[in-house]
Amino acid sequence: MDKGRMLSGNSAIITGAGKGIGLAIARMIGKLGARVSICGRDQRRLDDALEKLRMDGTEAMANIADVTVAEDVTTLVERTKDKFGPVTILVNNAGVGIFKPAHQLSLGEWDNVMDTNLKGVFLMCRAVVPDMIQRGGGDIINIASLAGKNAFSGGGVYCASKWGLLGLTHCMAEDLRDSGVKVSAICPGSVATEFSHSSTKFDVSKMLQADDVAHAVEMILTQAPQSFVSEISLRPARKP
Ligand SMILES: NC(=O)c1ccc[n+]([C@@H]2O[C@H](COP(=O)([O-])OP(=O)(O)OC[C@H]3O[C@@H](n4cnc5c(N)ncnc54)[C@H](OP(=O)(O)O)[C@@H]3O)[C@@H](O)[C@H]2O)c1
Repeated sequence: MDKGRMLSGNSAIITGAGKGIGLAIARMIGKLGARVSICGRDQRRLDDALEKLRMDGTEAMANIADVTVAEDVTTLVERTKDKFGPVTILVNNAGVGIFKPAHQLSLGEWDNVMDTNLKGVFLMCRAVVPDMIQRGGGDIINIASLAGKNAFSGGGVYCASKWGLLGLTHCMAEDLRDSGVKVSAICPGSVATEFSHSSTKFDVSKMLQADDVAHAVEMILTQAPQSFVSEISLRPARKP
């Protein structure tokens, strides 16, 4: 099949896709022929992203939605279904990081990271999975992190959220395996986005780029149907 149309007929939601890794994933999924619904909390950022997607020739829509708010998630999924049909691909990308010793975190900082990186994924999955089960298939890809496998000083709440996300991913994969719904995780190392720019000590030119993560998503979505890639650990070819 023409690789350019491999995902045609699909309807995809990518969370947190106004910029960074999420936008790169949305553009890649759109170029593979799927209709793309993106969300975030910043209207201007979403407008810019939507323009890029449309210039790529992608059928796309943008939605203000905070993944930590159950009502926002329900509305996002309903609007997407109304416009593009049942959601067949969900990429849970929205995420935040706060890096400081765990005992110095405020309750608000803890909740912000855990609610976005973990509860948000639960809410999104809960909203799309019943339709996927009914249709006998679907793909859910969670953008986790190598921080979900490796401990480092100051990583307390971020590592806990991503460790938890890997647990959720692999349990859901087992819950849904017999329904034809595949649940996978991608664990990138540091990626050159605004998320890492403020804190990075690395040579940015050697770091992973957002498009590298998008390529890993493409690998999962284009895997032959009789098997599935449950997890990808993504590292830069040379140490930054
Ligand atoms: N960059 C890295 O080094 C790295 C490495 C491994 C994994 N990751 C993971 O990759 C994902 C994307 O990171 P990135 O580097 O692209 O970060 P980024 O440039 O900061 O982008 C994060 C995106 O998430 C959205 N977002 C945050 N909270 C949200 C919420 N409550 N509801 C909806 N959208 C929300 C933001 O949009 P708004 O602010 O407009 O809502 C933004 O579009 C995250 O899950 C991150 O943990 C990043």
